Amino acid sequence: MTENILEISNLSVEVSGRIVLKDVNLKIAEGEVHVLFGPNGSGKSTLLMTIMGFPAYKVLSGEIIFKGRDITNLPINERVKLGINVAFQNPPAIRGVKLREIIGHWTSNVRETENLLKKVNFSPELLDRDVNLGFSGGEIKKSEILQIMAQKGDFLMIDEPDSGVDVENLKIIGRAINDMLRDRSGLIITHQGYILRFINAHVAHVILQGTIVCSGSPTKILTQILTEGYGWCYKCPMRRRIERRETETNS
Ligand SMILES: Nc1ncnc2c1ncn2[C@@H]1O[C@H](COP(=O)(O)OP(=O)(O)OP(=O)(O)O)[C@@H](O)[C@H]1O
Ligand SMILES: [Mg+2]
Repeated sequence: MTENILEISNLSVEVSGRIVLKDVNLKIAEGEVHVLFGPNGSGKSTLLMTIMGFPAYKVLSGEIIFKGRDITNLPINERVKLGINVAFQNPPAIRGVKLREIIGHWTSNVRETENLLKKVNFSPELLDRDVNLGFSGGEIKKSEILQIMAQKGDFLMIDEPDSGVDVENLKIIGRAINDMLRDRSGLIITHQGYILRFINAHVAHVILQGTIVCSGSPTKILTQILTEGYGWCYKCPMRRRIERRETETNS
């Protein structure tokens, strides 16, 4: 039987005094790639930040099991050591830290770094600039992919790798991600699904107002969302089951 690399049960999370995730349940089997869809502000990035362990994301209830181990209260560096990596939607600029220093921390020699740069067609000149400072939107996305390629974790969370990326670079980024995911597991957030042209995703989920309400085939769910919008997800039979359960629990 396939093992689950990640198991999230009944997870509720508060950020800045607001409950953003409510009763999230998610299982990702070893070797699977899952996609997360959801409207703006529905809690997608919050879920990734919580799995990564950022302290601002306060777990109110539930648990996160990674490779069979409860990591709900583990600090970020321990989660990275276990193999969890994230490519951020909006990574901060880091004044005074060169991208070369970060990449060099994860790679063993110059040749390895050069090979990674080639894979995402990344300008070596950017390595000697402060991380993300004055980088273009596309350069930031490529820098994020470069960093997770260098880290070599085995569970990759990638937040909107396709937003603001031109058609040629989308192909480059898509192929690089697909290459990484061949022998890894992952969770990818996308709005329009452009990145899915290059990635073999197994399962998709829809999150609405902080709860995963629907799961199924990535192609089917994306087609429904693109044609009918998220209104379709509110009508999803799976969502009705969840609501019935909530009513039963509350009565
Ligand atoms: N640090 C924070 N402080 C206050 N509110 C926050 C914080 N982080 C997230 N939120 C709120 O939580 C909600 C979910 O945010 P999140 O970034 O997870 O959305 P998202 O689904 O990733 O949206 P998008 O598609 O726009 O990226 C939003 O209403 C957001 O304003
Ligand atoms: Mg987001």
